[in-house]
Amino acid sequence: MSRELEQSRSATLFGTPLFTHVWANAAELNPRLKHAILEHAGRSSGEERTNVGGWHSEAGGLEFCGDAGRRVIQHMQDLTEWATHRLYDEFAKYPSPMRWTFNAWANVSAPGDFNKMHMHPGATWSGVYYVDPGETHPSADGTPLHLSDPNPVRTSSFFPELFASNVLIKPEPGLMVLFPSYVPHAVLPHRGDRPRISIAFNMRREPFP
Ligand SMILES: [Fe+2]
Repeated sequence: MSRELEQSRSATLFGTPLFTHVWANAAELNPRLKHAILEHAGRSSGEERTNVGGWHSEAGGLEFCGDAGRRVIQHMQDLTEWATHRLYDEFAKYPSPMRWTFNAWANVSAPGDFNKMHMHPGATWSGVYYVDPGETHPSADGTPLHLSDPNPVRTSSFFPELFASNVLIKPEPGLMVLFPSYVPHAVLPHRGDRPRISIAFNMRREPFP
């Protein structure tokens, strides 16, 4: 091949950022979150959104989780700030101070419950924090979060061996996942042996977008 082409330029366009972090204080935080969420689930009928079965709290500020809720919200805000700065780094830019609005809600899935494929239009980042993966055996695969390529045509036409169309993320206690709100996602039917408990959230940069 021509050595001349060594001087050519290339770039990857339309990348999709993904951030994951396991928070160090999860072992202390999660029993308190679990207790508060299950107590609230026992008192309120919940809402039906993308969940098929399962319990979905009202969206808001996790007031029913008290201090533990405020701490997990702080984690959401910290990861959002971190991810936004890393994203700006990639473009060799520095973000000006940003104002964010957020809402969060808790999910409890019994075996067999699932969430249909969906996106969160109207937000900037979306994410989830795992309180309890709902699986007793650590070697079990668990019930993953299923992220799907926002451009489904890509994988049916362009080197499918290189570009994954679906990514499965195994939940673990304290894991927080953050992705752009346009990424389609779903939760497969829960196959663990106890309730799977998570807290989902949206972060919206104001003024949007
Ligand atoms: Fe979602």
